[in-house]
Amino acid sequence: MASNEDSIRLEVTRYRPDGDSEPQLQEYDVPLRREWTVLDGLNHVKDEVDTTLSFRWSCRMGICGSCGMNVDGEPKLTCATFLSDYAPGPIRVEPLSNFPIIRDLVVDIDDFMQKLPKVSPWIIRDDDVTEIDGEYLQTPEELDAYKQFSMCINCMLCYAACPVYGLDPEFMGPAAIALAERYDLDSRDHGARERLDVLIEHEGVWGCTFVGECTTVCPKHVDPAGAIQRYKLKAAKENVKAFVLPRFLQ
Ligand code: FES
Repeated sequence: MASNEDSIRLEVTRYRPDGDSEPQLQEYDVPLRREWTVLDGLNHVKDEVDTTLSFRWSCRMGICGSCGMNVDGEPKLTCATFLSDYAPGPIRVEPLSNFPIIRDLVVDIDDFMQKLPKVSPWIIRDDDVTEIDGEYLQTPEELDAYKQFSMCINCMLCYAACPVYGLDPEFMGPAAIALAERYDLDSRDHGARERLDVLIEHEGVWGCTFVGECTTVCPKHVDPAGAIQRYKLKAAKENVKAFVLPRFLQ
């Protein structure tokens, strides 16, 4: 049955690694309601049509970052993507690109989770915390300096959009690098040097070819592409200080 005025067709990836040889598309017609998101459509399928369909979600509010999928080829939070924006359809719903598929629309996030701690995403101090009396205070201006980077919800849309990560999974990737800048910009932190040492490695910032899709698809308006370019500049300055200037000063 083709999509009609009251329904819209979803073409959804079905895949069982231990059964199917290749991912297949399965079609489902779901009610086209103005307030329904793609995630609502998938939940309708799960509840009313086919209980075997697998996908991740939790908050339905664009907060938890778990419902990321490719919608008509673009990485999206499905809880924040409305069916009506794709009318009359059909809408193709696929798992995020660049990640192994565990089942249907569920991808393996292990590689992503292992990359985040590599940039030491915590406050690093160079003083003795036992000597500090009370809390580390910040002014509103100091909070503003890193606030936008703290908005990342680890939805992995930026990794799905990144052609470099698609070709080289060793690349640290946009969210991890933006996370490093979040801590570097924090007035309480002294770990910038330590993080730069990690980011200037082969799999760090230099792999980025500045396509910029990571920033384009980010639902929280974090700017990983900007962070990566700033780190490249910092690294270049460090190189000049360490290797070029000493030659002229000899
Ligand atoms: Fe939590 Fe979509 S379900 S971000």
